[in-house]
Amino acid sequence: MSDVLLRFIHLTDTHLAADAALGHPQQPWTPAEGTLHLIEAVNALPFMADFVLHTGDVVYDPDEKAYLLAREMFAGLRAPVYFMPGNHDSSDMLQRLLIGRTSTPTYDYEFEVNGVQIVCLDSSPRHGENAPHTFISDAQIAWLRETCTPDDPRPLIVATHHNVLPAGAPWLDDFMRMRNGEELHAALLPARQRLLGVLHGHVHMVGQRTRDGITYHSSPSSWMQFLCHPGQTQTVVDHAARPGFNEITVMSDGMYLRHHFFGA
Ligand SMILES: [Fe+2]
Repeated sequence: MSDVLLRFIHLTDTHLAADAALGHPQQPWTPAEGTLHLIEAVNALPFMADFVLHTGDVVYDPDEKAYLLAREMFAGLRAPVYFMPGNHDSSDMLQRLLIGRTSTPTYDYEFEVNGVQIVCLDSSPRHGENAPHTFISDAQIAWLRETCTPDDPRPLIVATHHNVLPAGAPWLDDFMRMRNGEELHAALLPARQRLLGVLHGHVHMVGQRTRDGITYHSSPSSWMQFLCHPGQTQTVVDHAARPGFNEITVMSDGMYLRHHFFGA
């Protein structure tokens, strides 16, 4: 018997700009138009999600106007939204301007809905380089170990912005990835019996990576999609891929993930 505990939406990488009219020459939609279509698609689902989880890159450049635009747009979602910072975000500005909380150096948090524990790890870079890769700190690894204990009876979902483990392509593994993702994975291993999945964004494509019974799932962006083939080192736009999001159903015996796509 599989009892449904909760159903939520995982979306990511909206990349909103301060100027809502600002687009990209390779994209038919501006980020603001993509976000609008995303919100319409989520609101049009024939069920009410328990919540929406945004795994980061809410904005393209940390800018007060971009966060105010994001706050205004995401207020249009029917479900409550939990935000996480990505490499394009300022964790500080996201906390203050989008969420309205007093900011802390990292925005790591957990919450519980219907007996399910959801743990959100802030992977926004603090290495000072203008590059998409990241590291998480020893303190964050320790927090993850304390928060994701093996003896807790609750089902567990973990989320972070970056891709964590190597996937066999230099662009994903060397350019985009969390450099100490192996440490994150080791911190989660003791809780793997109750860990249903790890959700991330950042890569702007659908993909799954499994190791030791833990699966890492990405969501498409609501704006631009990327592709990655073995051996690829550069960022390549995937013109054939559609924007989308993930619908996640948590049951008493596991998790079901379905991809949704929208737009022509
Ligand atoms: Fe990102």
